[in-house]
Amino acid sequence: MSGLGDTTTTNNITSAGNDGPRVVIRDLVKSYRLGDESIEVLRGLSLSVSAGEIVSIMGPSGSGKTTLLNCISGIDSPDGGEVSIAGKIVDYASERARTNLRRHDIGMVFQFFNLVPTLTVRENVGLPFLISRQKNDDAEERVQKVLEQVGIARRADHRPYQLSGGEMQLASIARALAHRPAAILADEPTGNVNPAVGRCDHENIARRCKIRANRRVARDA
Ligand SMILES: Nc1ncnc2c1ncn2[C@@H]1O[C@H](COP(=O)(O)OP(=O)(O)OP(=O)(O)O)[C@@H](O)[C@H]1O
Ligand SMILES: [Mg+2]
Repeated sequence: MSGLGDTTTTNNITSAGNDGPRVVIRDLVKSYRLGDESIEVLRGLSLSVSAGEIVSIMGPSGSGKTTLLNCISGIDSPDGGEVSIAGKIVDYASERARTNLRRHDIGMVFQFFNLVPTLTVRENVGLPFLISRQKNDDAEERVQKVLEQVGIARRADHRPYQLSGGEMQLASIARALAHRPAAILADEPTGNVNPAVGRCDHENIARRCKIRANRRVARDA
């Protein structure tokens, strides 16, 4: 990846055990073409992330962070290399497979949250269940639980415009966690808040993920 290199840090925050890598990235290559110019963004990036592990990727603007996350989630396709999530290799040739990956295996926290403005917080958080079109008897219960875990339950009936920036972020995190994805991808979720708040929110996200990781291990045990 251009410009990232040694600014990537890995922080294993949990003793939740290791049931094999959740995300494996091998030799990822990605360039964009603009007229005659080729912009080389990812140059053979490899990374493995285990269950319960949190990896922060840092780098200057334009260094390829969003490109990497988009290639992992199948929003974009790499020119070469391979990504597997929870043991499934991402099939970039199949739009359906990539959509299913995002429906079932990945939770995403977008930089600008991407909450649906006409829906309440509760409905936004319940979207992954609606979109997956799978029968989820515990969906309502799960949504309520995750709203409480993240600390946004008291705003469940608000619409996004009736939330503060931090509350929008919490709603977005709740939505990413709701369907118990194998991996959560967060693209600068604290990019819009001041550094002190950002630090707290990174800790908040880490704490939520840790809770999830520990619960998952408990459930799998
Ligand atoms: N669709 C595209 N076509 C051409 N170039 C692109 C395209 N998308 C991204 N780029 C270029 O690829 C590089 C990496 O972009 P990317 O969005 O991944 O950076 P980033 O690390 O997420 O930056 P930021 O911190 O500003 O969000 C940038 O130089 C950008 O201009
Ligand atoms: Mg970006």
